[in-house]
Amino acid sequence: MNKEYYIGIMSGTSLDGVDVVYCEITPNSCKLLASLEYPMPLELKSDILMMTEGKNSLEKVGQIEHRLGVLFTQAVGTLLIRENIDASTITAIGSHGQTLWHAPQNGVSMQLGDPNILAAKTGIPVVADFRRKDVALGGQGAPFAPAFHEFIFSNINASVSVVNIGGMANITVLGDKLIGYDTGCGNVLLDMWVNAHYNLAYDKDGIWARSGDVDYVLLDTMMADPFFSQPYPKSTGREKFNQAWLEEMIASRKDTVYFRPLAQNVQRTLLELTALSISNEVLKFNTDVVLLCGGGAKNTFLVERIKTLIPNIEVAIAQNADQIEAMTFAWLAYKRIHNEEVNLKDVTGARENTILGGIYA
Ligand SMILES: Nc1ncnc2c1ncn2[C@@H]1O[C@H](COP(=O)(O)OP(=O)(O)OP(=O)(O)O)[C@@H](O)[C@H]1O
Ligand SMILES: [Mg+2]
Repeated sequence: MNKEYYIGIMSGTSLDGVDVVYCEITPNSCKLLASLEYPMPLELKSDILMMTEGKNSLEKVGQIEHRLGVLFTQAVGTLLIRENIDASTITAIGSHGQTLWHAPQNGVSMQLGDPNILAAKTGIPVVADFRRKDVALGGQGAPFAPAFHEFIFSNINASVSVVNIGGMANITVLGDKLIGYDTGCGNVLLDMWVNAHYNLAYDKDGIWARSGDVDYVLLDTMMADPFFSQPYPKSTGREKFNQAWLEEMIASRKDTVYFRPLAQNVQRTLLELTALSISNEVLKFNTDVVLLCGGGAKNTFLVERIKTLIPNIEVAIAQNADQIEAMTFAWLAYKRIHNEEVNLKDVTGARENTILGGIYA
């Protein structure tokens, strides 16, 4: 079987770092050989966040595009050196890019990180801009991981759903017809709230959330957001689940008397929101097993809550749970290089399956 070697780069909505993977890919397998998480400089993170809040200049957009291209190149270079990999043995790099604005309903999915820098500095062809062809065909342009979940998990001898808990969360249900969509926010609001109160990047193992009580009035107010009842295909991002959204929810807490909830109770309620919005969707398909992946799968309290909310479904952590998103983009690069269409139309709602991504060489 022809083996080819690819690199995948993922920088997700959490802005916690750049995940890089080195994979061996054949027509029916994708083996993770090495991986690395490269830190996102705090200054760049804060510029990106300001951008997503609409508080930055056009000049900054150009700078962010360039700085991310350099960052991705440094991340790949570090992995190549550390693993002693000869760049000429890599067929291509698949780069997701950093999403700055995702509004497919308006035909927009803007992802930055100049792939030309990566191609010029590494000498390796780069596949990037995966989402916009799907959007041009009327699709959501997201989530894309379901096609890869289908590729790697379809040999499991049970009915399976996969839930990725990143900044946002998404579900995949494997079956004759592939189903996949965003379930809502994953870690993004939990990270934002703990950062505002304790200046931490995230609430490790949900310890702070565990110290609070669920505010059920606030939880109901948040769960009443139309996103949670909207039928799929659907995808979301920081444009929706952000600080302004949370403040609006707290302010419109539907109770007889308004009072501002304690900070730890908000954290606890946000964790419950993530657990409940995921569990509600998992229960709709009632598979034998749900595999969790993404950084949220390391939040022990969140996983505990999901297990409690879906007691009849086996919950397991997927193999390579932290790297699956980056592996998806290594595999999507393989698909592009081989001019193969990706089975995503039922997930994204695009008119047809198509070849995704542009090649920068
Ligand atoms: N031990 C832990 N306890 C609690 N939360 C954790 C832990 N480890 C990671 N996380 C959470 O996982 C997040 C990172 O997850 P991940 O990298 O999957 O998200 P992402 O970069 O947004 O990816 P994507 O958008 O592709 O799904 C962190 O921001 C944090 O919220
Ligand atoms: Mg990440």
